[in-house]
Amino acid sequence: MSARILDGRAVAAQIYAELSDRLRRLESHGVVPGLGVVLVGDNPASRSYVTAKEKTCAQIGLRSVAHTLRATATLREILDVVEQLNHDESIDGILVQLPLPDPRMEPAVLEAIRPDKDVDGFHPLNVGRMLLGLPAFWPCTPHGILQLLVRSNIPIQGAHAVVVGRSHIVGRPLAHLLSMKGPMGNATVTICHTHTRDLAEHTRRADILIAAIGRPRAITAEMVRAGAVVVDVGVNRVPDPERPSGYRLVGDVDFEQVAKRASAITPVPGGVGPLTIAMLMANTVTAAERRRGPRSSTEVSSA
Ligand code: GUN
Repeated sequence: MSARILDGRAVAAQIYAELSDRLRRLESHGVVPGLGVVLVGDNPASRSYVTAKEKTCAQIGLRSVAHTLRATATLREILDVVEQLNHDESIDGILVQLPLPDPRMEPAVLEAIRPDKDVDGFHPLNVGRMLLGLPAFWPCTPHGILQLLVRSNIPIQGAHAVVVGRSHIVGRPLAHLLSMKGPMGNATVTICHTHTRDLAEHTRRADILIAAIGRPRAITAEMVRAGAVVVDVGVNRVPDPERPSGYRLVGDVDFEQVAKRASAITPVPGGVGPLTIAMLMANTVTAAERRRGPRSSTEVSSA
């Protein structure tokens, strides 16, 4: 068997086509959605994610405003930038790229973001509203994965989804959304993590296996049931002297071997990554509509 490749770029392009109507409508009301992007420090991966987000804003007609702080920035300095963006009427969405150089600052920084501008869905209010099934901004990677599955006609309802990884950004919210009532949920969900005994025993039971581990090629072919759908959230840099950059990106899944067993699989790059950015754009357009524009009936959004 050779797996169908789930093309994240193609699904993201569909979402951008849908957003373009909403952007036109906002523009006719004089509104260009604005995204404030905060990058602290010079983590190369974070810098490249932020660049990709800003580039997409420019491509689809959003305005992005970047704030870059040095790695030694104090909590007060970061909070001052967030406050400035909170008060800026032209800014609809605020994104603080994670991880921060000092991860202990993250709870205070995320809680300082105005919930109606929290397009990452990381503010405790949005997390709580999501858990209760109330309208909320959903985190971009989990929501993007659901969009990728639904738009690729992968059945979620009744499926056994196994999520490997319990981060606040991906694993935990994704496990919740998959188990929620509704057209993108109704799955039976298992969450695995570093303390899971015999990981393979769980992963082999998955109809949908989601790897959000952060370790290159941690999911091998023998951990995957024949015919499973495999979603690879990992973006790991591994040394490659043949590349000018000196590295290449690999996922958390041993793509070549697993693709022989799975029925469908996401590549890295070009799988989940483009959907994360697409959902950030969708959330920012929704935030702009809610704050300053006419509401759309066709939005790809949970807010
Ligand atoms: N770091 C990894 N993923 C994300 C994301 O979706 N948003 C932010 N702000 N930081 C991240």
